[in-house]
Amino acid sequence: MDICVVKDYEEMSKKAADFIADMIVKKPDGVLGLATGSTPVGTYKNLVSMYEAGKLDFSRLTTVNLDEYKGLKRSHDQSYYFFMHDNLFDHVNLRPDASFLPDGSKDDAESECKAYERKVASLGYADLQLLGIGRNGHIGFNEPADDFAVATHCVNLTESTIDANKRFFASIDDVPKQAYTMGIGTIMKAKRILILASGADKAEAIKNSCFGPVTPKVPASILQFHPDVTVICDEAAYSLCK
Ligand code: PGA
Repeated sequence: MDICVVKDYEEMSKKAADFIADMIVKKPDGVLGLATGSTPVGTYKNLVSMYEAGKLDFSRLTTVNLDEYKGLKRSHDQSYYFFMHDNLFDHVNLRPDASFLPDGSKDDAESECKAYERKVASLGYADLQLLGIGRNGHIGFNEPADDFAVATHCVNLTESTIDANKRFFASIDDVPKQAYTMGIGTIMKAKRILILASGADKAEAIKNSCFGPVTPKVPASILQFHPDVTVICDEAAYSLCK
């Protein structure tokens, strides 16, 4: 693991965007794995600025996202499909048919998860997969568990995740209870991985993931076994590693 500690969220976002831009320039027809959540928002802003300044071309790129809520239509403003359009896709020259996410409106979980895994496999998996990290060390929606889930699968969201997400919905009953997510195996097949973390509430997760034992109780700890992982975190997220 290559760990790069920067001052704050802004610096992390700038460095992450430069890292991704470098991949796009070197492999313009590559496959970029994307993430949602508050962590990558600044990174996407920087990428949009680079595109607007004429420094980046997304026209030959393909993207695959980590996960999606089950039970939300793509038009729902809390779907990850909506998030990606709002934060990146609608602002750059990606081809409309070149971005893939699991389809949360599909009820048949097994068939949708198999179809998504097949799609990502048919693209040769991500050349670079961007990840955020949960406070409990989750990546995508792979929560702490007894085993590492291999392929794309349907997960039951934990009570704490549902509770944390209720602020985005009219009531707690409207919060999706399940999600489709790439498995740990799908993520590990990416050729390179870039993981971002900002803020003291991620410090425990960064310490355990980068320096603790590799265990499905801390899903991101598996990244210690990947040959090409870069961590960009700010000082607060790195504070327990000193
Ligand atoms: P966050 O979520 O970026 O909103 O902190 C990260 C994650 O849960 O993967």
